[in-house]
Amino acid sequence: MTAVPSDTTNKAIVEGVDLCRTFEVGDTRVRALDHVDITMASGDFVAVMGPSGSGKSTLMNILGCLDRPNSGSYRLLNHQVADMDDQRLSEIRNQHLGFVFQSFHLLPRLTALDNVLLPLRFATSNVGASRTHALELLSRLGLDDRLDHRPNQLSGGQRQRVAIARALMAKPTLLLADEPTGNLDSKTAGEILELMLSFNREGQTILLVTHERSIASLANRIVHMRDGKIEGEEINS
Ligand SMILES: Nc1ncnc2c1ncn2[C@@H]1O[C@H](COP(=O)(O)OP(=O)(O)O)[C@@H](O)[C@H]1O
Ligand SMILES: [Mg+2]
Repeated sequence: MTAVPSDTTNKAIVEGVDLCRTFEVGDTRVRALDHVDITMASGDFVAVMGPSGSGKSTLMNILGCLDRPNSGSYRLLNHQVADMDDQRLSEIRNQHLGFVFQSFHLLPRLTALDNVLLPLRFATSNVGASRTHALELLSRLGLDDRLDHRPNQLSGGQRQRVAIARALMAKPTLLLADEPTGNLDSKTAGEILELMLSFNREGQTILLVTHERSIASLANRIVHMRDGKIEGEEINS
């Protein structure tokens, strides 16, 4: 075993402290996040649950470095991200974060394989090895015979599998999924969640946003949001 310095052994990889985010629309001001604290350890599977408008996506966007809080601090690994400029934020995203969205966000003109390879535009890593990794992921996700299909030639479940493969390409520190099964029938949704769970069992840290109890129950922690606040947390053992 390699020695790990004791101060990092149990250190959270995600630590948001006192996060606030407000939006001004006309004369009204919405407190989308109202003094939220959240931490995640490596290997956690956290579900953020709450009704529509409770601030789930806002929290995910901040933890995913797609948005910045108005106040509060956010540390991802050893990076303090709350004050970073856009350029640094996008580097952090490419290096450490993977995203899965309800509406898949695949590029329509690219094949499944090319959609998965897309994140590598920014990377300097070995192209051959990356292609091998993409093919492994797509195979693991049951898409061996769909590599050359474009998104409109794939079912919703297959599109989401391509999106998951793409999100995992850079071996992200954290996989963020915002209502990933919201556009899928319940059987397909179950298959997608089972796949996410299998990656989590191999150590992938996941933050999953959902408004559905049955989906949140798969996670090892459920964080409940309401009106921009975390109103409680459940631990599933
Ligand atoms: N870009 C935005 N501009 C204005 N208001 C926003 C914006 N994003 C979110 N909000 C508001 O912030 C609150 C939380 O939204 P959101 O985080 O999307 O909730 P959820 O994902 O839980 O449905 C809502 O009242 C929403 O209308
Ligand atoms: Mg949302």
